[in-house]
Amino acid sequence: MSGIMEHILARRSIRRFTDEPVAASDIRRLLEAAMAAPTATNRRPWAFIVVTAPDQLARLRNGLPLGRYRAPLALVVCGNMRRAWPGPVQDFWIQDCSAATQNILLAATGLGLGAVWIGVHPIAPLRWHVAKTLELPKWLRPLAVVHIGHPAESKSPRTQYEEAAVHWQLFGGMPADLANPVE
Ligand SMILES: Cc1cc2nc3c(=O)[nH]c(=O)nc-3n(C[C@H](O)[C@H](O)[C@H](O)COP(=O)(O)O)c2cc1C
Repeated sequence: MSGIMEHILARRSIRRFTDEPVAASDIRRLLEAAMAAPTATNRRPWAFIVVTAPDQLARLRNGLPLGRYRAPLALVVCGNMRRAWPGPVQDFWIQDCSAATQNILLAATGLGLGAVWIGVHPIAPLRWHVAKTLELPKWLRPLAVVHIGHPAESKSPRTQYEEAAVHWQLFGGMPADLANPVE
């Protein structure tokens, strides 16, 4: 299997971390990975809040009922509406920032770190909590909090491949070799 496939399958949500801080050089690489993500017409409508101060980490996680994990680093991925497309395609910021978030998770795996994506957008109370805690201006919309640290748990690589989720040519279609078996 190619390196990238192994890497993708090895990425798992890690929710337990040691107290060891994440090195500044690793934080930089995680951010470089985030900003290498594809975005619609390359607008890169994002901003990243790096949270390492223990009191600020505590405030942040305490308002996330499904994300109260103690990690030494949180990267908060935000959509920047000043750079997003105006009008009806503005919502592309969600895909753009999701691609950045996934790149952070994959880079964390590659650096030997653990990480978990905590969904914020579109849950209004979570958006308000994160925006208030981080003093975000109105034009920054939080998409996700990514807790990151050195892992204190390990999980096996895996795919969750499901044949039933795959359709060939049209909905319900089978691959040609199954549809026309050789006699
Ligand atoms: C949009 C999104 C929101 C998520 N929100 C949470 C969350 O609030 N809390 C949490 O523990 N995990 C959260 N996760 C992680 C998922 O639970 C996890 O990816 C899923 O169970 C599959 O496990 P795996 O990441 O180990 O493959 C979220 C993942 C995504 C993509």
